[in-house]
Amino acid sequence: MNRRLVAPVGITATGQCFPAKVVTNEDLSRTLDTNDEWIRTRTGIRERRWAEPGTGASQLGAPALRMALENRGMEASDLDLIVVTTVTPDTLFPSTACRIQEMVGATNAFGFDLNAACSGFLYALTTAASLVAAGGVRKAAVVGVDIMSTIINKEDRATAVLFGDGAGAVIVERVEEGYGILDFEHRIDGSGGEFLFMPAGGSRRPATAETVANKEHTIHQAGSEVFKNAVREMADNSRLLLDRNGMKGEDLGLFVPHQANIRIMDAAAKRLELDPSRMMVNIDRYANTTTATIPTALHQAREAGRLAKGDLVILSAFGAGFTWGSTLLRWAC
Ligand code: UT7
Repeated sequence: MNRRLVAPVGITATGQCFPAKVVTNEDLSRTLDTNDEWIRTRTGIRERRWAEPGTGASQLGAPALRMALENRGMEASDLDLIVVTTVTPDTLFPSTACRIQEMVGATNAFGFDLNAACSGFLYALTTAASLVAAGGVRKAAVVGVDIMSTIINKEDRATAVLFGDGAGAVIVERVEEGYGILDFEHRIDGSGGEFLFMPAGGSRRPATAETVANKEHTIHQAGSEVFKNAVREMADNSRLLLDRNGMKGEDLGLFVPHQANIRIMDAAAKRLELDPSRMMVNIDRYANTTTATIPTALHQAREAGRLAKGDLVILSAFGAGFTWGSTLLRWAC
């Protein structure tokens, strides 16, 4: 049984924002025991953007949302809802959604932050779209933003090279029958929590001088464990959506996977029997921007003319939690 929304709802505009500062693999190999060849061949990353210290998530999220609004020809005051997805909010509270609301002037909106790590954009899209389909919300924005440079241990080569900063935003509203979100499948499994997490800074282990000294406010990852699970779940989940909608990989106009590792993405594309040219890749330039990978990839696909009205698209992600999911859309704009 597929998970069709009660009314057709889709993405009608996109936007993005990245910090100006480019950090190349060469730059990192000056301070870490790593090299361009290892990073490129093991991950597909060539460079990433890191924000200047003191940059909050809202400072990338608000410009991305302004761009999406402009591309849609909408005023911020037309928005009823802003869902921000992030693991690096400006502050734990108030929410980054409140900050972004104020910055863009969305005077008629309510909003909140949603944390599902790398799967955050997909969960937020489903949440916003479901509210729009139900009728209580007419126009919603989903902003995926992460400033990963603030939570990586820059002395740990196993994680420091993997992540970048960025923001993507989309507008979500009613679309023509047969367009927009056609189906989705999302899951969480808390037993994977120990493989990718930030140990301190929450209620279980509040910040102390000791937690700071131990670098417990940074990402801890068992890379190969996450890798195995990501390959399996992203591929199986996307395959499931194709099968239960009577579609084949060749029917897809674009496959937009979370950009954590080119080897994970290639493995998923292979399982879908997809022509590699149908997969959106931006990990080489931006690395893993956590929740921002999918909305920025969508924006760049639009700009490059790789996404047209009517195209079938699968978005797929896997991340900390574990969280994972896929969404099937017929592109609506
Ligand atoms: O977005 C959230 C979800 N996250 C993911 O999906 C990430 C999934 N995991 C991965 O992408 C990969 O596991 C990594 C890219 C993190 C690591 O790649 P790997 O092929 O699994 O390498 P590994 O962790 O098994 O390490 C292999 C070797 C080790 O050395 P020894 O023990 O074999 O001597 C590491 O110490 O590579 C070493 N290594 C590095 N060498 C040079 C680890 N990081 C680096 C580095 N430069 N940056």
